[in-house]
Amino acid sequence: MVDFYIKSLKDNVDKKVVLKGWASNIRSGKGIYFVLMRDGTGFCQVVVSQDAVSSEAFAAIASLTQESAFWVEGTVVKDEKQIGGYEVQATDAGVIHIAEEYPISNKEHGVTFLSNNRHLWLRSRKQWAIMSIRNEIIMAIHGFFQKEGFVQMDAPIFTGNVVEGTTTLFETDFFGHSAYLSQSGQLYAEAIAMAMGKVYTFGPTFRAEKSDTPRHLSEFWMIEPEMAFYDLEDDMQVIEAFIKYVVRQVIENCPQQLEILERDVDRLKNVFQPFPRVTHADAAKILRGELEVNGKNALKVQEEDLAQAKSDLERVLNEIAEREEKIKTSSKGERRFHEGKILQLRKEAEVLTEKTRNIPKWIESARNFSDDNDFGNSDETVLTRVFDAPVMVYNWPAKIKSFYMKEVEGNPDLVKGVDLLAPDGYGEIIGGSERENDLNVLLRKIKEHNLPMEAFEWYLDLRRFGSIPHAGFGLGLERVVRWVCGLDHMRETIPFPRRYGRLFP
Ligand code: 4AD
Ligand code: MG
Repeated sequence: MVDFYIKSLKDNVDKKVVLKGWASNIRSGKGIYFVLMRDGTGFCQVVVSQDAVSSEAFAAIASLTQESAFWVEGTVVKDEKQIGGYEVQATDAGVIHIAEEYPISNKEHGVTFLSNNRHLWLRSRKQWAIMSIRNEIIMAIHGFFQKEGFVQMDAPIFTGNVVEGTTTLFETDFFGHSAYLSQSGQLYAEAIAMAMGKVYTFGPTFRAEKSDTPRHLSEFWMIEPEMAFYDLEDDMQVIEAFIKYVVRQVIENCPQQLEILERDVDRLKNVFQPFPRVTHADAAKILRGELEVNGKNALKVQEEDLAQAKSDLERVLNEIAEREEKIKTSSKGERRFHEGKILQLRKEAEVLTEKTRNIPKWIESARNFSDDNDFGNSDETVLTRVFDAPVMVYNWPAKIKSFYMKEVEGNPDLVKGVDLLAPDGYGEIIGGSERENDLNVLLRKIKEHNLPMEAFEWYLDLRRFGSIPHAGFGLGLERVVRWVCGLDHMRETIPFPRRYGRLFP
């Protein structure tokens, strides 16, 4: 049994410990090895000096290959320069398993290669940081709802009900009956809320979107609170307190992970401001540049971003040219230095080029945004760019939202839905609403949406027996992980992503 882990090194400075783990990286000098050990709880440098260990132990370390498993006994030394801040100076060590040649090296790999090797890619430092933040977020979600008196309940995964439109259903065969994989646990959460008051579900949900985007998975985890006697205003208050709590927990408990990911924590801290709330109609005006936010015009801001990207691109391209010129006359060491820089600069140039190509399209789309549209990805980027904190957009056009949302009194063209958009281009992370609790309106809506009435009979019972105002929302776990970690793509937010074009491993 292992009873000691890297994460506890900090409490054991100058003490002798035994660790078991894998060799993530190996360097050697004369009579000395530096092995970066990882054990699942963290990374730490193990120093094995020929003078300090037996010849067997030294030979064992000398035989290690990348990802070999080994154990080490040694003294804990604080060393801020090292990954994790501590180092173990070995007094003894042994091999547990010698790994075959490991396919993932420390050089850059393409994303397809890494995705094909997801089962191994998970061992890398960046992935470790993301997964441990994912865990922190999950714990914070439970922590928030449990402290607020919510009851966690599970919705079924096989279901006969459509929740979020008929176009994204995965249909399966359930003992001869057609069944869908759940798009959302909401309808069941509503029934459970009528029994338990304040509840939340936390389970896998499925959407058959044939779109290969950085923000769509086919299988993702959704957290769906549902609150009896809450209206849209109460719903928005819960959303805001909830997100602030989750982000605070990550900032407090995962500083090392955020550092590995080079996440700009100051940007994350913007969540501690009040969340701006805008109606969908005002959001449309902001997009078209008809309404300013704190003196900022969304289209002008994009034009400024475009100008900035263009001048940054020019600067980067110039620097590449300069360094290429210097290489011609430089020594071997200098050349390697310049080549490394050029590689970095090329990547920067790629991102900037993409920006200069995209922004004009974004401006075009925003300028032409019509009042009853749903936001596209770029619209969310343009909109959130003028705010620092996450934005709540509420009162949506009924025709682009689901059947169950409550109509705004006196304006049946609008429904009491709310989306929470994360800043810096991450976009929608929450969708929620107050629910229609009038039986007759709901009957009409189900017909208007062409949904099969029989399948909803049980749901309609909730409006027949003690119907009350109630509200809830759904948070996409991977969307939040992506935003909090600052990732380009959602493929890295879940251990084994299932998305359009990706079933293995
Ligand atoms: O906005 P959505 O579709 O809302 C619902 O499903 C409601 N029934 C929730 C409720 O009120 N109980 O989805 C909710 C959230 C989105 O805001 C997004 O974060 C995430 O689920 N989501 C996805 N995440 C990853 N991949 C996808 N294809 C997603 N579709 C939605
Ligand atoms: Mg939505």
